Amino acid sequence: MTFRAEGITKRFGPTVALDGVDIELRPGEIHALCGGNGSGKSTLIKTITGVEIADSGTFSIGEIASAAPDVTPARSHEWGIRCLHQQGSTFGSLTVTENFAAGVGFPRGFGGRIDWRAARKHSRELLEEFEIDASPDQLLEELRPVTRQMVAIARVLQDRSDSAGGVLILDEPTASLSAADVDRLHEAVVRFAETGTMVMYVTHRLGDLPGFASRATVLRDGRVVGELGASEIRHDRLVEMIVGVSEEELLSAASSHVVDASARDERLVLKDVVGGPVKGASLSVGAGEIVGVAGLVGAGRSSLLEMVFGTQEPQSGSVELDGEPLTWRSGKPHDQVALVPENRVIDAAFLPLSLTENIVATTTGRCWRKGFLNHRAERAEVRQIIADSGIKAASEEAPFQTLSGGNQQKAIVARCLRGEPEVLLLDEPTQGVDFAARAAIHETIRTAASEGLCVLVVSSDLEELVLMCNKVVVLVDGVTTSTVSGPDLTPENLERLGFGEVVSSV
Ligand SMILES: Nc1ncnc2c1ncn2[C@@H]1O[C@H](COP(=O)(O)OP(=O)(O)OP(=O)(O)O)[C@@H](O)[C@H]1O
Ligand SMILES: [Mg+2]
Repeated sequence: MTFRAEGITKRFGPTVALDGVDIELRPGEIHALCGGNGSGKSTLIKTITGVEIADSGTFSIGEIASAAPDVTPARSHEWGIRCLHQQGSTFGSLTVTENFAAGVGFPRGFGGRIDWRAARKHSRELLEEFEIDASPDQLLEELRPVTRQMVAIARVLQDRSDSAGGVLILDEPTASLSAADVDRLHEAVVRFAETGTMVMYVTHRLGDLPGFASRATVLRDGRVVGELGASEIRHDRLVEMIVGVSEEELLSAASSHVVDASARDERLVLKDVVGGPVKGASLSVGAGEIVGVAGLVGAGRSSLLEMVFGTQEPQSGSVELDGEPLTWRSGKPHDQVALVPENRVIDAAFLPLSLTENIVATTTGRCWRKGFLNHRAERAEVRQIIADSGIKAASEEAPFQTLSGGNQQKAIVARCLRGEPEVLLLDEPTQGVDFAARAAIHETIRTAASEGLCVLVVSSDLEELVLMCNKVVVLVDGVTTSTVSGPDLTPENLERLGFGEVVSSV
């Protein structure tokens, strides 16, 4: 039995998001769906799951066929199609058991009351079946991201009538996972495929695909530009199909990163900072320097950024900028500091507002002249930012939620730079961002740094840290244990210093 989508077309006003897309999933195969930001991947998934209604086309599973516009979430569900959508599908402040119940409901006992014993038992069974290392009463936010992701997958698969077969769609399941965690997630996905599940898998981490995906379909501007078999799936080939130019041409267009080891004025200095999971962090960032923070998720990386930003109070230690302490102001961010948070949907985006409003939000002060907001100046500036950052949207007034994930990320980085901060903090700055856009974001940040800005960046992508940073500080269990720079700055060294335990236990 195969799943087939044929001639799927979907327009959003003037935007043609999908233009006659064909794709076929086969049992036992992991089918990668690739394409740049805004190429139509999530839209295709949404039409398959009935979240968006296709304009035309056909879906078929085995012998059953249906006109694509007739597919509803209920019918898609009936066909055994299960999907983990791109953005947030678990609840951090709820327990594992509550997360499993959200969506399918709790087992009920006498008088309709929730039967907690049955709920916990069901949850324990799922944890066992999916080989997840967690207990039913743990809060999701306490779990490692890969475990959390596994809970999310188990949750969408729990009510399949037929435990083998069916379709599992994963839209960027590895954003913000470390390399070792990506391997763990992949092992689980391979297990599902081996039991006959048809898997559709979206990622921008193209290097993850060779040896993992059995087939790849590449989309560009809503059209299929090609399909590759397992042996043809290589990084350079994928990039060329996604972007339309060779990887070499693309990289030579972006200026290469020169590590400048000359002494600089120290601007941002952290001494023995303690707070939350951070047990002792010391580091310094010079003018124009880009400093990375490597370490496992949970090692305190994000807390460290928040203590510099001003939204988390350090228990002890000091944070100074140009010799002046950045003192705690009851959670109010410091004026000189900007943060691109890890979770853009929850913490940084104003989804119903327009792209323009999202770019000018928090920095509207810039275009005020003599008490009036200079709309013309602001519009011109926003237009420039959209062009410079390569943001793809239907228009400047498009609601933010209609932008593809990667384009939202570019807009948030642009907004933070617009405020002309002294210190820029970035938490997973290129999650969900395609190959070309990643290079563009790196370039934007480097340009900003060359003007004297201090940059502190957290990323699970060690290649990214090596590519961007002058030096990288390794955080192990909340303590800064080493600093790597110059020729020592390699992904292998960072992995060894920051992820030693996990690598050895895989
Ligand atoms: N609800 C909507 N209204 C208007 N336009 C939309 C809507 N949803 C998506 N689009 C547009 O459709 C196109 C395809 O977007 P889609 O989200 O499918 O891209 P994607 O391939 O998933 O990108 P990414 O890698 O950034 O997640 C984009 O131009 C996007 O702006
Ligand atoms: Mg998407």
